[in-house]
Amino acid sequence: MRVLVVGNGAREHAISVSLAQDPGVTALACAPGNAGTAAVAESPGLDVADNDAVVALARSWQADLVVIGPEGPLVNGAADAVRAAGFACFGPGREAARIEGSKAFAKAVMSAAGVPTASSVVVDNPAHLETALGVFTPPYVVKDDSLAAGKGVVVSPDLEVARAHALSLLDAGHPALLESFLDGPEVSLFCLVDGDTVVPLLPAQDFKRVGDDDTGPNTGGMGAYAPLPWAGDDLAADLVERIVRPVAAELVNRGTPFSGLLYAGLAMTSQGPAVIEFNCRFGDPETQAVLALLRTPLAGLLHATATGTLADHPPLEWADGSAVTVVVAAEGYPATPRLGDVVTGADAAGVLHAGTRRRDDGAVVSSGGRVLSVVGTGADLAAARVDAYARLEPIRLAGSHQRTDIALKAERGEIRVPDATG
Ligand code: AMP
Ligand code: GLY
Repeated sequence: MRVLVVGNGAREHAISVSLAQDPGVTALACAPGNAGTAAVAESPGLDVADNDAVVALARSWQADLVVIGPEGPLVNGAADAVRAAGFACFGPGREAARIEGSKAFAKAVMSAAGVPTASSVVVDNPAHLETALGVFTPPYVVKDDSLAAGKGVVVSPDLEVARAHALSLLDAGHPALLESFLDGPEVSLFCLVDGDTVVPLLPAQDFKRVGDDDTGPNTGGMGAYAPLPWAGDDLAADLVERIVRPVAAELVNRGTPFSGLLYAGLAMTSQGPAVIEFNCRFGDPETQAVLALLRTPLAGLLHATATGTLADHPPLEWADGSAVTVVVAAEGYPATPRLGDVVTGADAAGVLHAGTRRRDDGAVVSSGGRVLSVVGTGADLAAARVDAYARLEPIRLAGSHQRTDIALKAERGEIRVPDATG
């Protein structure tokens, strides 16, 4: 099978590494890719925002399967264009991708499907802001009601901070979404979905805040681990029944079936699981941990999803043990990442590239806020943590920072779902 992966982050590097290990894959390209993907896949140039260019590349690469990684092209209809040109494509079409692209659409689908989520109000006029803020109690949750890669969210106990963020969004012409706060630990559940067939991957947890102990601003994600030792073995099956299958069925009912990876971002609250957000693609950096444990060949699985035969696919096989991903970020990330710094020691196993490119003189330099994703595995979380941080040791990038506590609370058994009885 000739496979074309579209994207250039650590998620696409992880997907490419897994595809390269699949004996069914005879040729692999990751476009436009980065300095890391180039070690496992060809890297044809591509403007991922140009659907015609994606189709043209699928043709010239003679792809048997096109895997679209990021939300941007999916929300922009790249998968529709690729399918219309006759290629098998992993990723939802424009309509189904609205589950991520439009928070209003996602809320409407969840409401129709009877799926619990935070209550919310959209404010598009500063004159209505005070009344809307008055509906909520601290901590306040204020979001950019458009694609913001997790960075447009402020969660704060301080009304002043919430008001200022909402006003800055409105000033920039973006509607502000106010939400009730969902307490409890977060879970990222990735599900392969083809119509109403839903196959969950291992549940994972992401670390959104930039600093240790969940301090500082929200980021695209600073680390992840899988599976979740604090959750029962039936967590994934339970979340599929309560949340993902009803949403997949509702999308089928609306005539916009989902095909690809449906990512449920959940909070395990005292009232049960509730949805924080849906995404229409693999999550980053959780994918890097989850795929490190997947033993089932990935190309066949993605192809089955893309061609509507997921129901006939054999059950997934997983390695025992745990995986931990630690993100190495550029100086100044997330506010003002400095780019163009030389990165060394990043060509070892387990080091996935997020924002890197190869300079004309051959040096690898940073080209994004999240620069690398380092993945460790082990018999348990403690061993996987040791492995991940050891792999990080030889890496040099001026001014870089990473969290030192990825998966630490889980390793120590300190994560609890809040008790409904208080
Ligand atoms: P989002 O971009 O919607 O994924 O939000 C980014 C992060 O903000 C989430 O992963 C949560 O940590 C936090 N967050 C968002 N919405 C809520 C909410 N309603 N209650 C609590 N935390 C939230
Ligand atoms: N890990 C968060 C995201 O991919 O949106």
